[in-house]
Amino acid sequence: MASAAQAARAAALREEIERLDHHYYVLDQPLVPDAEYDRLYAELAALETEHRDLVTADSPTQRVAGAPAAQFRPLLHAVPMLSIRTETDHSEGGAHTFDQRVRRQLELEADAPALEYLAELKFDGLAVNLRYEQGKLVAAATRGDGETGEDITANIRTLRAIPLKLQGDAGAVLEVRGEVLLYRADFDRLNARMRAAGEKEFVNPRNAAAGSLRQLNAAMTAERPLRFFAYGLGEVQGWSVPATQAGLIEALGRFGLPVCAERRLCRGAAELAQFHAEVGARRAELPFDIDGVVYKLNEIALQQRLGFVSREPRWAVAHKYPPQEAVTRVLDIEVQVGRTGAITPVARLAPVFVGGATVTNATLHNEDEIRRKDVKIGDWVSVRRAGDVIPEVVGSLPHRRDGRESEFVMPLQCPICRSAVRRAPDEAVARCTGGLFCPAQRKQALLHFASRRAMDIEGLGDKLVDQLVDGSVVATPADLYKLGLAALANLERMADKSAANVLAAINASRDTTLARFIYALGIRNVGETTAKDLARHFGKLDALMDADAERLQRVPDVGPVVAQSIAQFFGEPHNREVVEQLRAAGVHWTEHEPAAADAPGHLAGKIFVLTGTLPTLDRESAKAMIEAAGGKVSGSVSKKTHYVVAGADAGSKLAKAQELAVPVIDEAALLALVAEQEKA
Ligand code: IVH
Repeated sequence: MASAAQAARAAALREEIERLDHHYYVLDQPLVPDAEYDRLYAELAALETEHRDLVTADSPTQRVAGAPAAQFRPLLHAVPMLSIRTETDHSEGGAHTFDQRVRRQLELEADAPALEYLAELKFDGLAVNLRYEQGKLVAAATRGDGETGEDITANIRTLRAIPLKLQGDAGAVLEVRGEVLLYRADFDRLNARMRAAGEKEFVNPRNAAAGSLRQLNAAMTAERPLRFFAYGLGEVQGWSVPATQAGLIEALGRFGLPVCAERRLCRGAAELAQFHAEVGARRAELPFDIDGVVYKLNEIALQQRLGFVSREPRWAVAHKYPPQEAVTRVLDIEVQVGRTGAITPVARLAPVFVGGATVTNATLHNEDEIRRKDVKIGDWVSVRRAGDVIPEVVGSLPHRRDGRESEFVMPLQCPICRSAVRRAPDEAVARCTGGLFCPAQRKQALLHFASRRAMDIEGLGDKLVDQLVDGSVVATPADLYKLGLAALANLERMADKSAANVLAAINASRDTTLARFIYALGIRNVGETTAKDLARHFGKLDALMDADAERLQRVPDVGPVVAQSIAQFFGEPHNREVVEQLRAAGVHWTEHEPAAADAPGHLAGKIFVLTGTLPTLDRESAKAMIEAAGGKVSGSVSKKTHYVVAGADAGSKLAKAQELAVPVIDEAALLALVAEQEKA
């Protein structure tokens, strides 16, 4: 038997975990880092394992239970789950058609006051019914054919977004209806995991949500961060239903159920159309997919008066947005050179109207993607566009081929600068090796060169770099130091005063450190930390430039990939030439003997990885603190990592740490480590 103190501790832990879940999934305001949540959860699980009498049915640890099912059992809905009529007119006319129809069916006079509606989002997920009895979740089902769904109770119980017990008095029976969905960011992370595991990726968040929820093994569902939004009711006993749809949503929220804040009480058709237009404009910014908005007559009594026709309520309608996908032809596949030299194949398309705009180009990402999507020049393809996102080819329609299609071949030379195109064996992306010499990469390289943590040239921003490169005034970073006041002041929209300021900033940047200079070169895979390591290790630039890959790997933390990038960079004569020009232009730094015996800090040799948002420290301060104590901060988790410092919303790095059993600590533990070392 557990002691009274242990029972109290278990109850407190349960309450705290429920509170954290509620803040995370319902209020969208995470309170603590995931590591802290995991710690509390582990403590509760350990207590319950030791004292089985402490386990309660609604304990957070009881979300996953039982063996995988062989199949889902059918579950008859107490009240049928209806469908909803779709207004086919995508323009604002759709709102007027609906309002007119409702007014006619309510037999209102033409001059009767405007009707009140609640406008909601039409979530693109899966409709589910949750049955609470005496406030406790007892059953959950999919919509199925509307009469009978599938029993997904075990899966639904694993969703931290769904309370196992409701707050307040929910009567004898309360069935809540709503949508299960996946946030796009979570979908991307899930697909990255599937890819890494060599498994098939999901096509879109809706599919992934469906696949995750309809897992016969509920433990699998538990690993997917599914969300839920409540928007309606099924059977109700012993609870008085609010008088309006708006009141209902609020009441559901008070029970601790997630409801979507994106909803609006509207009077008349014009306000509905306004909501439709506003949400449509912000659609891409929502964290999840929607395919339209839903209008519901607000007054429940009026809803009841209208009733249903052929399984669709007369009092509600879905007003959709134009489809985000369309079919067109690939006229050609060309390549574009991006800022890191990445060569991206782009499909030139026969113009097609999709997602509210005419599309003539769509990215194909890389060669593997072209093969996976099976796209040939001349193919019919499906194209997708969501908001501001770059249009993308979803896939080809191979049955429409007539034999005249041809395969895309990756060029061997950069189309812009003729440097060799190379693709590393373990990489999907082919790259131009031209580096600073390639005009397509120049602008970005210049911006990086001038950035605050590199050469720190204030005032050299996007617009100015565009003008300098487009006007052939500057080609390489070395050219910056040849600029005179006249050349700058001659540029359009450049006042004499700002020209002088930029010039002063360029001049001041000549005096720098070796680490900054190495970082400024923009060598692939060489971030600030590696640049510092290289500077400390080699002491002199020439020693670095002449080191081969094998020699480079003797630098702590430099592995084969980084070594290869550096050797390749200095292997290109263009890059060496730019370095020489920079030296000739007076850029200088102190060279020193390789520091073999740099005073080791307290955390010397310890490698940290930061992930997520820490409660008080920002990235830079945490990094500075670790480095000051002699530790290193790396960008990716490997077996060599000593600690992963995780904050709120930590993602794949945390998962990787857990996979490799690298210790995960929170901000408090990091501060303790640093302090402890200081005392030592
Ligand atoms: S109400 C009686 N509200 O759309 C009205 N449905 O075809 C029942 N949906 O299966 C539906 N967002 O999956 C309602 N805010 C919302 C919705 C919504 C998405 C889905 C739901 C339903 C389908 C209707």
